[in-house]
Amino acid sequence: MEYLDSMEWRYATKKFDRLKKVDNEVLQRIVEAGKLSATSLGFQPLKILNIESPFLRDSIKSASFNQTQVTDASHLLILCVDADFSKENVARYIKRVADTREQSPEKLSGFESMINGWIGGLPDDEERINWAAKQAYITIGTMMTACALEKVDSCPMEGFVPQQVAEILDLEKLNLFPVLMLPVGYRHADDLNQHLPKVRKTMNEFLINF
Ligand SMILES: Cc1cc2nc3c(=O)[nH]c(=O)nc-3n(C[C@H](O)[C@H](O)[C@H](O)COP(=O)(O)O)c2cc1C
Repeated sequence: MEYLDSMEWRYATKKFDRLKKVDNEVLQRIVEAGKLSATSLGFQPLKILNIESPFLRDSIKSASFNQTQVTDASHLLILCVDADFSKENVARYIKRVADTREQSPEKLSGFESMINGWIGGLPDDEERINWAAKQAYITIGTMMTACALEKVDSCPMEGFVPQQVAEILDLEKLNLFPVLMLPVGYRHADDLNQHLPKVRKTMNEFLINF
C-alpha cells in the first residue's frame, strides 16, 4: 500500500521553496524513470530539456502565465515531441533494438516496415505530433510517480504558450515541440494547497465493472 500513500502525498505544487535543491542523483533517477516509460512502438518520439539558466527560466515564466513554479522550483524539465519521423530515424531505432538485443537488423525488417507504415499512415505532421504528444503525457505520469516515491514535489503543467517557449529556446531548428513542463523541487511551507483534501470521483463513479 505504500505507493498509494505516495499518491496521496503528492499534489500539484503551486509554491516551491526556492532554497531547497533536488540532489543531482535523485534528479537523474526521475529522468531515468521517464526514459523507462512505455511509448507506442517503443519509438520514444520525445526529448526532455533541463532548463538551468535563470535567464531562460524567467523568460519561460512570462510565456507560462507567470506561474511561479517555473522559476522557483529546484529544476525545470520540459517534455518535447521530437518530430523526426523520418525513415532514417526509424532505422536508427531499429539498429538500437538490434544492438541491444543482439538481433540481426534483417530479422527486424517487418517491425521496421510496420513502424514506417504506422507513422506514414497518419494523415499529416500535425497528427504525427499529436500521436507523439500522447507519449509525452504517459512519460510525465511516470516521472510524477517517480517524484512522489522519491518524496520530491512536482507540478505537471500545460499552462504555457508552446510557440513562445519554442521561440525562447530556439527549438524549431532542433525539430522539437514543447508539450509539457515538469518543475520539480520541494514544497514551500506556505503552499496552502498541500493541506487541501484531494477532490476525486468516488470509486463507483470512476470504475465500471462489466
Ligand atoms: C496535463 C496537466 C496539465 C496541468 N497544468 C497545470 C498548470 O499549468 N498549472 C498548475 O498549477 N497545475 C496544472 N495541473 C495540475 C492539476 O490542476 C492538478 O493535477 C489537479 O487539479 C489535481 O490535483 P492534484 O494533482 O494536486 O491532486 C495540470 C495537470 C495535468 C495532468
